[in-house]
Amino acid sequence: MSMNEKPINDWDPRSEAVTHDQVAAYDEMRHRCPVAHSDYLNLSLFRHDDVMRVLNDHETFSSAVSSYLSVPNGMDPPEHTQYRTIVEPYFSPQRMAVFEPVCREIAATLVNGLSRGGEVEFNAQFAQDFAMNIQCAFLGWPQELRAPLLHWIRKNREATLTGDRIALDRVAVEFDTYIKGLLAQRRQSGAEAQDDITTSLLRERIGDRLLHDDEIVSVLRNWTVGELGTIAACVGILAHYLAEHPDVQERLREQPSLLPKAIDEILRIRAPLIANRRISSKSVKIGGREVPVGQRITLIWASANRDETVFGDPDEFRLDRDPASNLLYGSGIHVCPGAPLARLELRVGMEELLERTNWIALVPGSPLTKAVYPAAGFSALPLRIE
Ligand code: HEM
Repeated sequence: MSMNEKPINDWDPRSEAVTHDQVAAYDEMRHRCPVAHSDYLNLSLFRHDDVMRVLNDHETFSSAVSSYLSVPNGMDPPEHTQYRTIVEPYFSPQRMAVFEPVCREIAATLVNGLSRGGEVEFNAQFAQDFAMNIQCAFLGWPQELRAPLLHWIRKNREATLTGDRIALDRVAVEFDTYIKGLLAQRRQSGAEAQDDITTSLLRERIGDRLLHDDEIVSVLRNWTVGELGTIAACVGILAHYLAEHPDVQERLREQPSLLPKAIDEILRIRAPLIANRRISSKSVKIGGREVPVGQRITLIWASANRDETVFGDPDEFRLDRDPASNLLYGSGIHVCPGAPLARLELRVGMEELLERTNWIALVPGSPLTKAVYPAAGFSALPLRIE
């Protein structure tokens, strides 16, 4: 290919066929064209091996993909390491132990509120509120922020799908404004500010200075996406999977101690997070394809975690798989720092859901709606709770 020749599109990530059933479409790509170019997602990697290779070589595959400040997601070492050191302690075992009862209370209240015997739209009536309530409790955010946050997460997705830079800028500013307002209030209150994670971020230092507001906002934006985007998707995927697989549901009701492994395995089969990005810092070869320097790359988690060469039948539910091969929370230096919180929430959420109900079933005749990229899981999920 000469310098000014545009690569041909091997697929269209926004076509009807892909958005209709993302996981099936990515399976098809993994078989047909596992290293694929498209104008929208650039070079997409579908195979587990290729994704691992990128994750393990952060020098060749940089995370500095965005023009927005993104702490720590969009950074490379040594900068990345400094910020990562600030973020990680917020998800320590001690913090998780203190947060567990809060999390359980939120889950129990929501499960008790689900109407029994009729049809519930699980996404709106459980998954979204679960993620939102936990996010606000974890960070000490007020109830008034709920509506704007839900609005923000939806607008952000829409702008990502259309690739509309102006709209993306607008929604970024919107989020910044809410959060900077919160930070200003806490600064004003000084020593009287409520003692929570948001206030504690105001005291974090990088070298000999405090974090700037833009950095704190970026940290909080990434946590918000992890929570309101990914956790909400997980809860829907899990409940739907149990409704669709009565044998698994029965087993987990009898042995809730299997939940942590079962959750990781179900979310391997049905990804809650579709993709993340990188950019090459030197020219390399991946899967027989020449990759020039400055090539934008998309890692398709939703495909890599279903690669037959690693998992055999990707749909087979097994509790004895090697946890290291499951890329649910990524791998390498950018591995999800929020994983302890995510695992805690999902375990406690499912424990309460199973404990406080007798059965979760699909509703024949009520169609579910799959979420469209960049979201995953369901946008509407009718279920019957007994
Ligand atoms: C089940 C839910 C979640 C899943 C499946 C998930 C998955 C992931 C994955 C795969 C990555 C690696 C991205 C990459 O390599 O480019 C990641 C990074 C990250 N996640 Fe999560 N995540 C979840 C929940 C959360 C939560 C609840 C938070 C925070 C409250 C969070 C915060 C982050 C941050 C800050 C990063 C960037 C880390 C870095 O660049 O060093 N995630 N997550």
